Amino acid sequence: MNAPDAPRERAVAAFRRVYGRDPTTLVRAPGRVNLIGEHTDYNDGFVLPMAIERSAFVALAPRDDGVVRLRAEDLGEDGVFDVATARDLGERGDARAEPGGWLEFGRGVAWALQSDGLTLRGFDGALASDVPVGAGLSSSAAIELALARAFFETSGFDWDPARMARRMQRAENLWVGVQTGIMDQLVVASGAADHALLIDCRDLSIRPVRLPPTVRVVVLDTSTRRSLVGSAYDDRRRACERAAAHLGVAALRDADEALLEGARGALDDVAFRRARHVVRENARTLAAAQALEREDVSAVGALMDESHASLRDDYEVSSEALDAIVEVAREAPGCAGARMTGAGFGGCAVALVRDDAVEAFIATVEREYGARTGHEARAYVSRAAQGAGSVALP
Ligand code: GLA
Repeated sequence: MNAPDAPRERAVAAFRRVYGRDPTTLVRAPGRVNLIGEHTDYNDGFVLPMAIERSAFVALAPRDDGVVRLRAEDLGEDGVFDVATARDLGERGDARAEPGGWLEFGRGVAWALQSDGLTLRGFDGALASDVPVGAGLSSSAAIELALARAFFETSGFDWDPARMARRMQRAENLWVGVQTGIMDQLVVASGAADHALLIDCRDLSIRPVRLPPTVRVVVLDTSTRRSLVGSAYDDRRRACERAAAHLGVAALRDADEALLEGARGALDDVAFRRARHVVRENARTLAAAQALEREDVSAVGALMDESHASLRDDYEVSSEALDAIVEVAREAPGCAGARMTGAGFGGCAVALVRDDAVEAFIATVEREYGARTGHEARAYVSRAAQGAGSVALP
């Protein structure tokens, strides 16, 4: 993935400029793209995402007190907070200091770590990221895990990726205030080079699935951004819970098509279609992991195509731009399959493309999508990357 200007270098240069010394440590957490298994994570289901080669970096040096000074280089802003303030606010049961604001990520991470019993030391840090914001590539989870890793470096607690993902999901849910599932934080924490991860979102077990060397994963940014995604997302969650309660199962993960079919008529149409998407998407995700393992790329592509149709028609989280880019991608050279990825309503699609056709594929999508919609398509080719960790200073 060819970043315009590398966030690693930007984070380090910003640190030197702002604090007038060298950082001691550099940490990184990637964005992610989901190959299949959409809107299944909060139904205890299956997902098949991979970490991508775009990341958030924090260059840092520890402090002896509980103060965190943070430079957000991409925004050109500086902030400061005391880890004790975040802890005390959390203990009062009122997680959020004030809504919005990039520094809330820092406070939320400090709060989530401390509310799980960890003792934190502060740091001076500079943050830079090349994960596009609002594109459905988990720019927030990348920042959360990078900041958690920064605290790990200064405070010396254990780093267990799944536990860390749970804590960062709490930060996202209770502090940042978005009721997302576990997928983003878990793949950002646990990503494996050249592998997608089949995650069981009930017990958080992970099966790495090697991506066949003959294909590339191409992320296609519609350059449209989602709006009202929070309330639409919450509506979807509630419809799923309604359906699960009606079917008498703990979560839609436990339902199958026969059970659902038996409830048709008794269940309202919206909840029925939302549940149908989830039940079928879980089956598709398991099938896609198996197909990848036997390197049956066309089978994976067909499942991705079905996933998109289901997200568009039954789950109703696609958009005109997403439908257009997916249609254009499918007609382009070398494409095995394509679908919207992430929460939806805008942002990115993902396509599986034959290795030797990638350039022609991208040129075709850019031309045809532009002609059809007037928007600019941006394509990122990415290998599957390693999850959050510490990296060598440049
Ligand atoms: C967002 C959420 C995830 C997941 C997806 C949809 O990315 O953060 O938890 O629910 O939407 O699959």
